[in-house]
Amino acid sequence: MSKSSDFAWLDGKLVPWKDATMHISTECVLRGENVFEGERAYWSEQDQELYMFRHADHIRRLRQGARIMRMTIPYSDAEIETACIDLIRACRYRGSVHFRPVVYFAEGELTHYLPDEIRTGMFILAFSKPSIPALKTGVKSCVSTWQRNGDLSAPSRVKSGANYHNSRLAYIEARLNGFGPPVMLNNAGKVAEGPGSCIMMVRHGRLVTPPITADILESITRDTLIELAREELGLEVVERDVNRSELYVCDEAFFCGSGAEVLPIASIDHYDIGDGTPGSVTRRLQDLYFEVVSGRHAKYQHWLTPVYAGATAQASAAE
Ligand SMILES: Cc1ncc(COP(=O)(O)O)c(C=O)c1O
Repeated sequence: MSKSSDFAWLDGKLVPWKDATMHISTECVLRGENVFEGERAYWSEQDQELYMFRHADHIRRLRQGARIMRMTIPYSDAEIETACIDLIRACRYRGSVHFRPVVYFAEGELTHYLPDEIRTGMFILAFSKPSIPALKTGVKSCVSTWQRNGDLSAPSRVKSGANYHNSRLAYIEARLNGFGPPVMLNNAGKVAEGPGSCIMMVRHGRLVTPPITADILESITRDTLIELAREELGLEVVERDVNRSELYVCDEAFFCGSGAEVLPIASIDHYDIGDGTPGSVTRRLQDLYFEVVSGRHAKYQHWLTPVYAGATAQASAAE
């Protein structure tokens, strides 16, 4: 992922990348007090169009997280959508884009302020982010020694920057031990999710995934794949607690998320999953997912929001 782009959107306007700054005394900087979304837009060569995927659902989740954090988002859904579109257009992307609307607390007093006692701002970042090669081969995973942050301490359903310190501890430990993204267990010792994605497995012909009460983010990709598995593959999908040892005997497993996409897991704690290569259900779901997000599946067009809507990337850049 390129770590810069031509523009960012900050507090109501597009600004050149180098001017997208905020003061070091903001709560956002000091304590990671923000809620954000990680969304993707996919390029369709056929339509010469970039489609934001399930944007309305991401904004719904952003508002849900802000509500739990007692934050007041100072923009309407329509204003946020226009801002995302303006930013991506200004950056002239014609490939896979990862973008992040972030609502943040500015300068505050001692963290116990009420929503109207602190300025709440918003910024949006957009990066070019092609899929990673591991989508074809799978990743080596492990079970983390770090627990997922729990609902009684820092709810995982809130996508807040502060929560990602927990994710980072787990991911760094896994990397230092030679693994890719780890699997995190919750306080009850059941499988929760990855540091930046949900997890699904195939056992006895069923697709099994931890429930949204297992200290996971209410993932939009998870929801998408559950629907695709049921509707398009006719699979039985079970949302239930998953034990650690079940991971070692499942037939297939994969991470899923807007960033991770559908990422096969080749092994966990050195136990090969299946034969150690992406299984057939994983591959079929992955194919379907990419058909849907890039506008090649007629039935799921309602999940797509066009960015250029008639204006080509070149024309938009000339504006
Ligand atoms: C901790 C965590 N869980 C799950 C997900 C997947 O969520 P989504 O599919 O909505 O991107 C993400 C990705 O953003 C995440 O950061």
